[in-house]
Amino acid sequence: MKEIGVGMVGYAFMGRAHGNAYRQVPFFYPELPVKPVMKAICGRTKEAVDAAATQMGWQEAIYDFDELLERDDIGLIDINTPNNVHVPMAIKAAEAGKHIICEKPLAMSVEEAEAGLAAVQKAGIVHMLCHNYRRIPAVWMAKQMIESGVLGQLYHWRATYLQDWLMDPSAPLFWRTQKEVAGSGALGDLMAHSIDLALWMMGDISRVSAAWKTFVKKRPKLVSTDGGLGGGGAEELGDVTVDDATLSLAEFSNGAIGSFEATRFAPGHKNSNCFEINGSKGSIRFNLERLNEIEYYNAEDDCKEAGFRTILSSDGCHPFQGLPGGGPRFWPAGHNIGYEHTFINTIADLMEGIAKGVSPNPNFEDGVKIQKVLAAVEKSCVDGQWAEV
Ligand SMILES: NC(=O)c1ccc[n+]([C@@H]2O[C@H](COP(=O)([O-])OP(=O)(O)OC[C@H]3O[C@@H](n4cnc5c(N)ncnc54)[C@H](O)[C@@H]3O)[C@@H](O)[C@H]2O)c1
Repeated sequence: MKEIGVGMVGYAFMGRAHGNAYRQVPFFYPELPVKPVMKAICGRTKEAVDAAATQMGWQEAIYDFDELLERDDIGLIDINTPNNVHVPMAIKAAEAGKHIICEKPLAMSVEEAEAGLAAVQKAGIVHMLCHNYRRIPAVWMAKQMIESGVLGQLYHWRATYLQDWLMDPSAPLFWRTQKEVAGSGALGDLMAHSIDLALWMMGDISRVSAAWKTFVKKRPKLVSTDGGLGGGGAEELGDVTVDDATLSLAEFSNGAIGSFEATRFAPGHKNSNCFEINGSKGSIRFNLERLNEIEYYNAEDDCKEAGFRTILSSDGCHPFQGLPGGGPRFWPAGHNIGYEHTFINTIADLMEGIAKGVSPNPNFEDGVKIQKVLAAVEKSCVDGQWAEV
């Protein structure tokens, strides 16, 4: 089996999710043609990067991104930093000839996303955007059901992505509350995932009509522990410059209509990423908080027995769940998988892509399309008018 050295930047939430995936992939995907080797983790704060390297099992800690790119034994760069540095880092990595996986959203603007795409295309490297929710067996299955015509003509897309972690007004400012680093709030953080799934399953969006709200407009400034935002003390307040919640209507090019809701202010909803699709022959619905299940209604069922049925997508016949020679990839049916498997499946497909020299979906091309919808939603929020994508 060939190997590829990985250099990862960012070591917190997504850094842990991706780091775990590199560790697990060779175990659960023994058939992969390329195996990732955890060469180096990169960050700015020595003690924190050292601790992350030890905990996650990276061979080395590096404190300068350019140094990571100079390494000949590193062929893949994994970007897990805040949104404002995704494209600048990706362009540098592409110029250094490294394959790239980058966290979402790809960029801060359409122009920046297009610059990122141009750089990876010019370099001819393999690129991928980490919309890991595509690679949930139940979600992949939903896509397959649509493609095979099970739902018939598509009429409705209905997505809600609800969380509640930022409701406390005493929670301090940090990068996710600042437009210059995050680009937007619930919009680019949560709705970006729903937009990705919608474009993938329903097709292009032609126009949107949206509104957004920032409920807590000022938050305490805290001294940054990471050399980033901050300054001041807990008693000093600073402006929140992103949306806490965004809602949008959408028209799809295929004639379907849709709605999106993304919020960090929905008490009780921890990571409630839901979608429902209604077509001429039936409906499907999904909730990330019950990620092993997909619900399906067949409009052609006999009236007496018709109803939503819950399919547990944990058998060898379901996407990602079976080994090529038979037997379970993860666990026997019903011994369910979780959040971390979405990243393991994503990294596995990236390894396949690197072996074949093909960028897996979603990649930077999809990132540009998603960015165009994000920009249209933002424009509509500001103008109060429908915005063309
Ligand atoms: N795919 C998903 O489901 C998902 C979930 C959460 C976050 N994300 C995305 O992942 C990215 C990181 O989010 P997170 O939740 O891990 O954030 P985080 O705050 O937990 O971690 C960010 C990391 O980046 C480092 N960092 C910050 N600024 C940097 C800079 N200028 N240069 C180098 N390193 C820097 C920090 O030290 C930290 O290690 C974001 O783009 C976010 O949108 C994706």
